[in-house]
Amino acid sequence: MADRPYTLLSCGMSLDGYLDSADVPRLALSNDSDFDRVDAVRAASDAILVGAATVRADNPRLLVRSAARRTERAARGLPESPVKVTVTRRGDLDADAAFFCTGTGEKLVYCPTAVAPALRARLGSVATVVDAGWQVDMRDVSKDLSGRGIGRLMVEGGGTVHTQFLTADIADELQLVVAPLFVGDSRSRRFVGDGRFPWHADRRATLAEVRQIGDVALLRYALSARFCAGSD
Ligand SMILES: NC(=O)c1ccc[n+]([C@@H]2O[C@H](COP(=O)([O-])OP(=O)(O)OC[C@H]3O[C@@H](n4cnc5c(N)ncnc54)[C@H](OP(=O)(O)O)[C@@H]3O)[C@@H](O)[C@H]2O)c1
Repeated sequence: MADRPYTLLSCGMSLDGYLDSADVPRLALSNDSDFDRVDAVRAASDAILVGAATVRADNPRLLVRSAARRTERAARGLPESPVKVTVTRRGDLDADAAFFCTGTGEKLVYCPTAVAPALRARLGSVATVVDAGWQVDMRDVSKDLSGRGIGRLMVEGGGTVHTQFLTADIADELQLVVAPLFVGDSRSRRFVGDGRFPWHADRRATLAEVRQIGDVALLRYALSARFCAGSD
């Protein structure tokens, strides 16, 4: 078994590369058909990871929406929705967040040793708090998830988290949806921040697929030799 899960990064961004808008809460970048496609990707995953800022800003449920997909997972002996995973440095997470309150599956929170006891006291009844050492490293998170039986990980953002998976070269696939709008406000979050990325002018990523989904474009990039073209 590989020492980390097959890791798929999923993201919607504006034409100018933003994930959100500083002014508009929960900016809708995608459309219904694409939300349904993302739901299928979720249903095919063992775990979904988001950063703590996304838990706070979007209050996402991160559940499989389609009843048919939930039934199909159950028939395969899987929980109806994937395991939910988040990471936090400060430990500022609310037990009432939809991340913790919805779905019956496991919820994992990776945090540094310094905040683990307080976080356990606050979230202990709704999540498993994993002490990740003096700082949380996405390689270690990936390895730990693999040890917990996670074979396929979907990373749903935000940009801080995507940046770390990309710069650490531990992503196998990127599914980037480009929405036909501009945000035009540098206070908003970009798809990625600064960093040394393994793909640059001398080592270009492989564009594996371009698909039009209504008014958005899905770009699929193969980021490793493990890329699995059939998975969408
Ligand atoms: N368009 C899309 O597809 C999409 C998807 C998801 C999110 N979003 C948007 O993206 C925005 C959030 O993005 P973001 O980049 O600000 O944040 P993010 O990646 O969601 O979360 C960042 C937070 O995660 C925690 N974190 C990240 N790396 C860590 C590490 N190595 N160790 C410990 N904790 C770590 C920290 O939490 P603490 O602050 O708790 O320490 C950090 O502040 C939201 O506005 C959301 O709406 C858009």
